[in-house]
Parts: sequence; C-alpha cells; structure tokens
Amino acid sequence: MTMSAHDSPRTPLMSPHPVSSQTFDGLFEVLARQPENSTALAALQKGLREGGPEAAACYQEFKPVCHAALTAVLQHHGHFANEVRRLAAAQVCHRHQLHGGQVPVTVERLAALAADPLCTLMLAESINTNLTLEQFLTRARTFLLRCHPGEPALLARLRPLLVALVQQVFNNEFVWPVTEAEELAVAALGEELMRTVQAGDNSRIEPLLLLHALYQPLAAHAEAARLAAMPLASFSGDLHPLLTRILHEPRREMELRATIPTLEEVRDPVSRSVRAQYEESPYPRWAHFSGTPKTIRERIQRVRPGFEGPLAGSGQRLQVLVAGCGTGQHSLQVALGNPEADVLAVDLSSASLAYAMRMTERHGARNLTFLQGDLLALPRLGRKFHHIECAGVLHHIKDHAAAWAVLAQCLQPGGTMKIGVYSQAARLLVSHLRACIQREGIGTSPNAVRLFRTRLLTEPAWAGLLPLLERMGDFFSLSMTRDLLFHVQEHQYTVAEIEGIARALGLELLGVQLSRRSVDYLKSKGTLAEPRVQTFAQWRAIEQAYVGSLEMFQFWLQLPAPAGPASAVASLGRVRGAASQ
Ligand SMILES: C[S@@+](CC[C@H](N)C(=O)[O-])C[C@H]1O[C@@H](n2cnc3c(N)ncnc32)[C@H](O)[C@@H]1O
Repeated sequence: MTMSAHDSPRTPLMSPHPVSSQTFDGLFEVLARQPENSTALAALQKGLREGGPEAAACYQEFKPVCHAALTAVLQHHGHFANEVRRLAAAQVCHRHQLHGGQVPVTVERLAALAADPLCTLMLAESINTNLTLEQFLTRARTFLLRCHPGEPALLARLRPLLVALVQQVFNNEFVWPVTEAEELAVAALGEELMRTVQAGDNSRIEPLLLLHALYQPLAAHAEAARLAAMPLASFSGDLHPLLTRILHEPRREMELRATIPTLEEVRDPVSRSVRAQYEESPYPRWAHFSGTPKTIRERIQRVRPGFEGPLAGSGQRLQVLVAGCGTGQHSLQVALGNPEADVLAVDLSSASLAYAMRMTERHGARNLTFLQGDLLALPRLGRKFHHIECAGVLHHIKDHAAAWAVLAQCLQPGGTMKIGVYSQAARLLVSHLRACIQREGIGTSPNAVRLFRTRLLTEPAWAGLLPLLERMGDFFSLSMTRDLLFHVQEHQYTVAEIEGIARALGLELLGVQLSRRSVDYLKSKGTLAEPRVQTFAQWRAIEQAYVGSLEMFQFWLQLPAPAGPASAVASLGRVRGAASQ
C-alpha cells in the first residue's frame, strides 16, 4: 500500500534527460500487450519518477493506450508502485470527467466507474491519493447509502464499484468525512444487519453488509463473530477477497494480540499516550512487500563502501534489534535480508505488532520474534545486540536523549545502528499545520482528524496547500494523517543536535543515506561532487537539501570497539577513517 514513510521521496523530480512522449507511448503499447514485461514497467516507473514535460503530459488528458496498459499491469501484478498508481488515478478522473468542481453523481457515471476495471481494482488494492477522485467518491458513497433499501436492482448494477469502495474505505481507515444524517442512516443499517444475521436471512445480508461497511469496520460490528463463522462459500464470489480483508484478517490480528510477550508495563506517561495512538491507528498499514531484502552489510556499504558490517564472534549468530518495529514491514525486511541473524522486533503497540505478526506469517520469516514494550525499558532484557535499527521512533519519545542512550547501552562494542528521525528543515509545512492544530485546540481523536482534514479540503483559505498535501501522499488514510499532523509527541532534529548526541554517546557516523531527490538537488546546486556523506561537517553543509521535502534523516552509526585483543573480532568491522570526522 505505502512504502515506509522514510523510504521514498515524494516529489517528482526533473531529470536532465526526461523520457520522450514517443517513449511513454511505446511503453504503454508494450505493457498493454505484455503486462508482465518488467523492463518496460521499470522504465515507465523511472520515467514517471524523473518527471519532465512528457511525463507531466501523461497526467493531463485521457490516453486510451495508457489506460489499457495500466489496467493490464494491475490485473497482472495485483498492485502498483506509487508513481504508477498516481497516473492510474489521473486517467480514471479524465476518462470519467470527474474534474471541475461538483461533478454530478449520476447512475450513469457510477455505472461507468463500476465497469472500469482500472478504477475498481485500484480502489480495492491501494489507498487513493488523488483528491479529485476522493471528493467525487465521497459523494458517490452518500449516493449509494441513499439507494437503500428500495433499489436492489440499482445496487446490483453498481456492485463492482460498491465492493471496491468498501475495500477503499477499509484501506484508508474511514478517513472520508461523514455527515450527521449519514451517521444516523448507518446506525439504523447496523441494527438491520444485526437482525438479519440473527434471523439467518442470508439473501438480505450481502447488500446490508456492503452498505454498512462503507462507513464502519465490519470486524467491529456486533454480529462480526457470527458473520466470520459463516463459510465463505455461503457468500457470492466477489465478496471472498473482501471478507478476508475486512473481517477475517482483523479477527486474526485480535487472536495474535493475545499471544504477544510483554517486556513490562509501560510507565512513561508520554509513551502511554503514544501507545494509545498506535493501538487505535497502527501505522504504516502496508499490504505489499516490494524490493529484494538486502544484508545489513550491503546496506551499510551503500553509504560506506568497504565496511565489513557488524560482526558476531565466532560461532555466534548476529543479534539484531528493531526498536519500534511498528506494523512489521521494516523488521521483515531486516529478517528476510539476514537469514543468519536472530531479529527481535519491539514496539509499544500490540495492535501494530499483531499486524506485523500476521504479515510475517504471510511472508514467512522464522528468524523474527516480537515483543511488546517501551524502548526505554530495553535494558531490562539484559541483552546486547550487534546491530540495532530504529526508524521513525526516537522523535516520538519525550525523553528522546534517554532513548538514544538506551540504544547505545544495548549495542555491542563494534556494533552498528541505523537511525531514521525527523528533520526540522524537512518538516516546515508540517510544523505550520501542527501549530495551527494546537492553536485551535483541535484534539487528536480520529473524529478530530477527520474534521480537520475536511476543513483543509474545503475551506478556500487552505486551497493553496492542497497540491502540496496531495504530493505528500501521507494525507490519505486516518493513520497517515494522524502520524503526519496529529502526533501526540513529535521532536524534530537538526544535524547539529544529532552530532551532539552521537558524540556524547561515543557513536561514530558511518554515513548518511540520501534520497534521489536530495542527491539531484545537491548536484543541481553543485554542492555535492560525490554523493556520499560520511562526516557531520559534510552533513551540516547540505542540511538545506531537506527543506520542505518531508524526508527523514537516515544514517548509520557505529559504537567503536575498545582497542585490545578481546575486541579484535568486533573491531574487524570498523573502517579505517570512520573516526576522522
Ligand atoms: C511511525 S511508526 C514506525 C514503525 C517502523 N519503524 C517503520 O519504519 O515502519 C513508529 C512506531 O514507533 C513505536 N514507538 C514509539 N515510541 C516507542 C517507544 N517508546 N518504545 C517502543 N516503540 C515506540 C510506535 O508504537 C510506532 O509503532
């Protein structure tokens, strides 16, 4: 669904050699015939990511060959990379003429959307990040709700769209605005669904269930257990994947939650509030695992060529900690990339851990175990690790300096760390919006998030921000928006602050991971001849490359091993010159 927030740049880039329009059309023609052609798909993704006028033109009008290619690709692969998904949404909007204010919601338009597999598959598999489409579909949902109860034939005609919309609102965690009238109608529908399930009237269950699930999580319905006990075969075939996703998987997560071992009760009051947020809104809710997992050594060598990696003593397996593993994409990547390592993944939120465990079951990683607890309490484990990863976590801990110290304490001499934290420069817009939310005392509940989001989308004063929010991508599900703008605890770092912390803890910088966007920016300014940043002085000099980008600082550190024979194995991993900063 999404990459981790810290993995990919969000802004399309201008390349010095953009792909030509003939090349784009050629790629679409190839993909329409051979959607499995991975070279053509990679070239399309690269061309869209790099931008330029020809790439921009693909988004500006309906192109039948582009629509056909994207449909074939989605039908073949089942999911899209982010940039292709954006293009698909633009094509759907053009094809069905959804641009231009309050386009009327008509049965004909909905039927056309229902018959467009690019639209229905995309809504089912991903989180839509196109505001035009979102605004139309929000009104389409209201229209569908009003169809009940008297229009079964109409609902049957629009059913592919209805089923896709149910998956879409599940994917975005019901982030779209709901009116009071809709709330009342949905409450009545919930009761009717309850009575129908209790009466065992299967013929009426499906439309009621679908309309109710347009607004409320089915797994939280009073009759969810009875619905889950019904064999899938007693429902129509088009509901099987949907029921797996919105009913059976959430129930599996509830079962898994009860099995997670706990470190100790979370005591820190801010950690408790942070935990509450992620229990309600686990993040990120990823659905597809992409990319080839790499070893820790390979990943460090991208920023520090020649580095040997964290080394265990002879006969020992590498011990790895993922501190704040969230929903498990990160820890799964580490575990699959390093089968010779034992990976422990810790997080405050048992809902996030349960999501992680379910996804780990799906992808199979036997060297990964989970533990619920506060990073601040990790010394109670009495364990030291050869490598620690902590991405997107430290800035959410009130006493973040103490948390850094805990991580350093848990690291073997010679061990390495991969850290991802918020950059002050990158989050200027976010800071502005967070200040507004705090000034107005808006609160952080899911409902407050929904209401504020609606204001941003509808009040003229915010109109200028919408293209930026659309590009950010992190604005289209409830957990994303909460994480982006409503976090109960957020700290933002400067490079100077990170340098101070690292020096105080005796950690040395191995290298900084730069996104393609930063590298291109720095090259365009002539600031970075060699795209490697291995000292704090180099890093400070390029801090402005992050301004407004939303990117995290991502970097690798090492705790040097003391000199002497006992630490010889650990020191093998050190690189000459790592300390000369
Ligand atoms: C933005 S998510 C990032 C998850 C994951 N590292 C990733 O990159 O996908 C932040 C996670 O940090 C966890 N977290 C925050 N404070 C923590 C603490 N004090 N101890 C353990 N986990 C914490 C939250 O529960 C949440 O799941």
